[in-house]
Amino acid sequence: MSNRDNREINLLKNYPKSKRNVSERGQSKTKEQQELARKFGRDFFDGDRSNGYGGYHYNERFWKNVIPDFVKHYKLKDGDKILDVGCGKGFMLFDFYKYNPNFVLEGIDISEYAIDNAKSEIKNFVKTGNAKELHYDDNFFDLVISITTVHNLDIDECKLALKEIERVSKKNKFITVDAYSNQEEKKMMYEWNLTAKTILHTDEWKKVFQDINYSGDYYWFKP
Ligand SMILES: C[S@@+](CC[C@H](N)C(=O)[O-])C[C@H]1O[C@@H](n2cnc3c(N)ncnc32)[C@H](O)[C@@H]1O
Repeated sequence: MSNRDNREINLLKNYPKSKRNVSERGQSKTKEQQELARKFGRDFFDGDRSNGYGGYHYNERFWKNVIPDFVKHYKLKDGDKILDVGCGKGFMLFDFYKYNPNFVLEGIDISEYAIDNAKSEIKNFVKTGNAKELHYDDNFFDLVISITTVHNLDIDECKLALKEIERVSKKNKFITVDAYSNQEEKKMMYEWNLTAKTILHTDEWKKVFQDINYSGDYYWFKP
């Protein structure tokens, strides 16, 4: 494996930090709320904060300053094909589009609600689909991105999703997953988590990436 492979890199360093009341959620969340959140419907995106986002609205302050980092790192140019796996309402794709309308953009998400409510400007680029089975040819995309999505599958399906991301990408891919590096982070992660079925220590994730030959870049979501 070359040095180019399996790289831990924070390409979301310019994504704004949210203030999260982790212990409050830890104390109050119920099994019912987790079940509801895992349906990835209106309740998860635009319902009460205790069920998910508590209002998933577009705001360019989220992705606008991240896109240039992707473009620079992966040397993206006119005509490059970019896939977002777990694109939600397509907010990141919309900011890619605004950055350069000559990118060829695609997004899939398991949520019919999110796709139905996708931003109108990129609605034609997004559709429902499951990360574990991507309906694209091998080596089709110049870049595949998946932000806080594949950990929503159990470990075996999560591995399938990573293999699919590997398969449809020519070379470049970047994912973020729920992770922890010590006991305190583990406690916070479990208190905050509503939807993830696979939460691992960063070293365990690296082992998974190695085992299934995921050669892409990655970083961690920690609340
Ligand atoms: C935490 S949200 C992140 C959304 C978006 N990537 C972002 O960063 O704003 C997780 C997303 O993954 C989607 N999702 C969950 N399981 C999925 C699966 N198996 N395949 C595709 N999308 C999935 C959810 O519907 C949701 O939009």
